[in-house]
Amino acid sequence: MSTASKGLEGIVAAETVLSFIDGEKGILEYNGIAINDLAKHSSFEEVAFLMLNKRLPKKPEFEAFITDLRGSYGLSDHTLSLIKSMPTTAQPMHMLRTMVSALAMEDPEPNSIDIPEVRVKAVRILAKAPTIVAAFDRLRRGLDIVSPDPSLSFAANFLYMLNAERPTHTMERAFDACMILHADHGLNASTFTCRVITSTLSDIYSAITGAIGALRGPLHGGANEGVMHMLNEIDSPEEAEQFVMNKLAARDRIMGFGHRVYKSYDPRATYLKTLAEQLATDTGNADLYAKSSAIEKTMAREVASKGIYPNVDFYSATTYHSIGLKLDLFTPMFALSRISGWAGHALEQLDGNRLIRPSADYVGPHNTQYLPIEQR
Ligand code: SDX
Repeated sequence: MSTASKGLEGIVAAETVLSFIDGEKGILEYNGIAINDLAKHSSFEEVAFLMLNKRLPKKPEFEAFITDLRGSYGLSDHTLSLIKSMPTTAQPMHMLRTMVSALAMEDPEPNSIDIPEVRVKAVRILAKAPTIVAAFDRLRRGLDIVSPDPSLSFAANFLYMLNAERPTHTMERAFDACMILHADHGLNASTFTCRVITSTLSDIYSAITGAIGALRGPLHGGANEGVMHMLNEIDSPEEAEQFVMNKLAARDRIMGFGHRVYKSYDPRATYLKTLAEQLATDTGNADLYAKSSAIEKTMAREVASKGIYPNVDFYSATTYHSIGLKLDLFTPMFALSRISGWAGHALEQLDGNRLIRPSADYVGPHNTQYLPIEQR
């Protein structure tokens, strides 16, 4: 009988000071600070500093950090020509994974594992990823690329490059809050991927490229796009209950619900639910929020007893849609934020590294005779 823990459930594989999750109580803290306090009072740029330095910044170092981050938004001609060479039909997550990998080719020391140098590279990737996504989206829409504006915050600059106009304060704050909420979350699949790659002393570009690959999966970061597809499939809030019941009867997964760790309400979903309701109402998407509420009500009645509640992806879909983002940009948004958490974990992994190499229970035959192909 194998002793393997399927999906490594319950296995502790690292120590971290970046985020703490209490799945039973629905608690998430970044370095001990409640996620709600950070979403309300902090900024994604501050949280990114925390992820890369394991503490919030003091004023002078924060000013230096944002000067460096915002000063790195720009893309080289080589990177821009690569983006222009991409088929406009490429899926944004495949494009982003490819372009982050390509950034390594412009770095004279891509393979450095010196922690301060890796931190510098991480800031570069974090700063350029939004510019890459915005440039690709503009090109596929047949529009001119909008150059980044280093006077704008991470959140405002992305929306500016995407829409060629500065966002309202409300939209900037909403998007910034989404970035804060998605920055880190313990040893989730993409973060674990990042740590495994880093543990071989490979480079930060490979580690983040691998993490993007893991995040794209519909069981992980891809779920927010799955939620939007589901909401588009349901014609009205009145039809939501039957839709959910049919899915459950077919033993299909309802995207945006359930979690390996949370067996209670994901605190990020609590915050995003309020944000989604406010934004949906303000942007004429109240119907989307009404459908989401109806789905949640049915799921609460049917499966809450099994510890299945909304997770971060359920209300982020309505929020991103109300901000005006195209459906296939939802998971890239998750990646833009999570680059900060992945990088933070890569730095933690490098500090006292040991190669991550678990075992597998061999359950196959032994002493099997080799037969030539003619005899098989
Ligand atoms: C993220 O790990 C992280 O921290 C991830 C994340 C982060 O910030 O990095 O929080 C982000 O990835 C959130 C999760 C996004 N994924 C989805 O919304 C996809 C839908 N969710 C499920 O596929 C599922 O809940 C998982 C994958 C998230 C977790 O699955 P587990 O822990 O492997 O649980 P399981 O598949 O073994 O399910 C346990 C039971 C099963 O029922 P039984 O077979 O025991 O009767 O719960 C049921 C499942 O059928 N179940 C669901 C369900 N999720 C679990 N039933 C219906 N709909 C769902 N969404």
